Amino acid sequence: MKNMITDEELVKIAMEMRDRAYAPYSGFAVGAALLCEDGSVYRGCNVENSSYGATICAEQTAAVSAVADGNVQFVKIAVAGTGDDYCVPCGICRQFLREFSADLVFLCANSSGEFKVFGYDDLLPNAFEL
Ligand code: THU
Repeated sequence: MKNMITDEELVKIAMEMRDRAYAPYSGFAVGAALLCEDGSVYRGCNVENSSYGATICAEQTAAVSAVADGNVQFVKIAVAGTGDDYCVPCGICRQFLREFSADLVFLCANSSGEFKVFGYDDLLPNAFEL
């Protein structure tokens, strides 16, 4: 695996991606950086909408970008939010990403770039799949 990027570097990309967030309604900017098996990194940010339910999370935009590029071998995702709390993915994102890997590693960062590492054992045990 060309998995040369460090966790710290992946988190840094996620933090940079917060600047691209379109979050005028919540004011909560989120950035994501999704590492794939071949070493590719796909970037995402949350994109909100005046019809709130149409909002897309940062993790989903990164994942959709990867899939659209023909890359579904997800390895690791860094998520960086706003504030002191570690930004863990919402329930929909956990399920959305689980579609492509049961072994995905989550690097959940706060605004300072400190992060905690999680897996699906923690975030979505007994996940639904068809
Ligand atoms: N958000 C994400 O981008 N990822 C998550 O996992 C949690 C929530 C976004 C959605 C919305 O734009 C804002 O954060 C507040 O919920």
